[in-house]
Amino acid sequence: MRKIFKLILIGLLIVLIVIQFFRPEKNNSPVMAENTITAKIPIPDSVQGILKVSCYDCHSNKTIYPWYSNFQPVMWFLTNHIIDGKRHLNFDEFAVYSLARQYKKLKEIGEQVKAGEMPMESYTLIHRDAVLSASQKELIYSWVSNSRQLMESQYPADSLKSKPRK
Ligand code: HEC
Repeated sequence: MRKIFKLILIGLLIVLIVIQFFRPEKNNSPVMAENTITAKIPIPDSVQGILKVSCYDCHSNKTIYPWYSNFQPVMWFLTNHIIDGKRHLNFDEFAVYSLARQYKKLKEIGEQVKAGEMPMESYTLIHRDAVLSASQKELIYSWVSNSRQLMESQYPADSLKSKPRK
């Protein structure tokens, strides 16, 4: 019996070593100033600071990786979250979205924060500084609602309506 355990242990060790060689690419694509959210939507520094700390690791073109992400399978989990997160919302590509999508995403940001869904719990478990305080949440809500009002005053109502998906 002891021999079998030893073999299993060695097998696991080999698997662990081998998977270290499968490294997903890091999230580090170019950030074009004209594509970022700030190109279209004014953001007070206070709000921008909060978003950078609490959201940008999964919703921008650049992630600040913790040291342990150099180990697999940690990086795989992170990469999945980042790919998924960026597909739903990318602050660095926000200005490229249609007006209707920008308008809708702003609303969703408020909703996600209010519901406590974002930032993700698996993230704040480790990134304690990303946890939003009540006053930080208030700053986000008022920025979201100011920005939506600004869009309403700038663009025809029709352009802010999401078209039904075909
Ligand atoms: C650890 C990664 C991570 C962090 C940090 C994070 N998000 Fe997300 N976010 C995701 C993922 C993954 C999704 C897509 C899946 C889902 O909705 O759970 C998502 C989805 C969203 C969506 C779209 C929801 C929808 O209905 O399509 C919004 C809006 C959002 N996040 C806002 C935020 C905001 C605002 C912050 C910061 C306060 C934040 N997120 C922090 C990973 C993250």
